[in-house]
Amino acid sequence: MQFISERIRFILYWLRYLNDFLYDHIRFVKYSNTEYTYIRNTDKLVAKIISLYHVIEKGLSIDRPRLRFGVPRIKMLMRYIAIYSGRVDRGNWDIQVVSSLKVLREYSKFNKDRGADSLLVDEFLKDYSDVLEVEHIKGGTKALDLDEFFSQEAPLFDTVVSLRSSVRNFGVGEVALADVHSAIALAQQSPSTCNRQSSRVLITKDRIQIDELLALQGGANGFSEQINCLLVICSDLSCYQGPGDRTSGIIDGSLFGMSFLHAATRYKIASIPLNWSKNYKDDIKLRAMISFPDSYAVLFFVGLGVFKNNVRVPCSTKNSTHEICMNIEVI
Ligand SMILES: Cc1cc2nc3c(=O)[nH]c(=O)nc-3n(C[C@H](O)[C@H](O)[C@H](O)COP(=O)(O)O)c2cc1C
Repeated sequence: MQFISERIRFILYWLRYLNDFLYDHIRFVKYSNTEYTYIRNTDKLVAKIISLYHVIEKGLSIDRPRLRFGVPRIKMLMRYIAIYSGRVDRGNWDIQVVSSLKVLREYSKFNKDRGADSLLVDEFLKDYSDVLEVEHIKGGTKALDLDEFFSQEAPLFDTVVSLRSSVRNFGVGEVALADVHSAIALAQQSPSTCNRQSSRVLITKDRIQIDELLALQGGANGFSEQINCLLVICSDLSCYQGPGDRTSGIIDGSLFGMSFLHAATRYKIASIPLNWSKNYKDDIKLRAMISFPDSYAVLFFVGLGVFKNNVRVPCSTKNSTHEICMNIEVI
């Protein structure tokens, strides 16, 4: 009897929640970028430019980048910049597009310094020499100045937040598990919807497991072998109820994850968040690879390692604050 009533309840809830999930689905298909060749919407074009230049800046920040890496992406990036340039007056260029040119310039310099030319990029950049002169917008990589930071036993919040960067080039040495647990304990101070505290962390220091998990994750190529502790940040869906909660686990887990990244930095652990924005097939593969409760939704991975002196990290300028803020207006 109980079995039957549970089945009926499942079907009722399945139907009850469907509209809400469909609403999200329709909005995502409608508003996310689904164009590839021309990209009519200029905001979406800028987003595409960012995602492409990011591949290059991250490539430049690993230990030993391959000469002339990423040529197909670079060609695509240059094409999109040219489209953007045809649409937007140079005086009004988005910060991110200026950054993309700086990243291309560093890419060219990286190759030239090692005796490899990148004529295609140089030729392209000639048309944008005026934009490249803009001083206050950065792009490419910078060295993290860690001396002062390491001299502070408990660095201040501002220092931690300013220093935190995604690291893709780790030093030699093991991350201490005790520090990882201390950082997790700090992150547990994060707020969560109705204090549900659904965040869960799967941890491994096992080399084989890390390699297998990162091979499936796919976003740590070129530096995965330097990660010596891997976390999988999850949210336990069993903490939630009702259609209004359908994204609560993602929100609570992300707040927790961000606190963790800051806390890890405070404990002088170098970190890199790694996406688990995967299709369902990869999610099923992951569940077949390691054991954890079915109710856990996997949000993202975090790779950890020790800081290397003067490690280089991407330095592109963040969007301007006034551009991301708008006053709330009554309709
Ligand atoms: C959820 C999430 C997933 C990410 N996944 C990857 C990834 O798979 N590989 C990677 O190299 N960087 C990844 N990153 C790092 C971003 O590229 C990085 O946060 C972004 O470029 C901003 O740089 P910053 O973290 O140094 O400020 C991810 C970041 C987030 C928040």
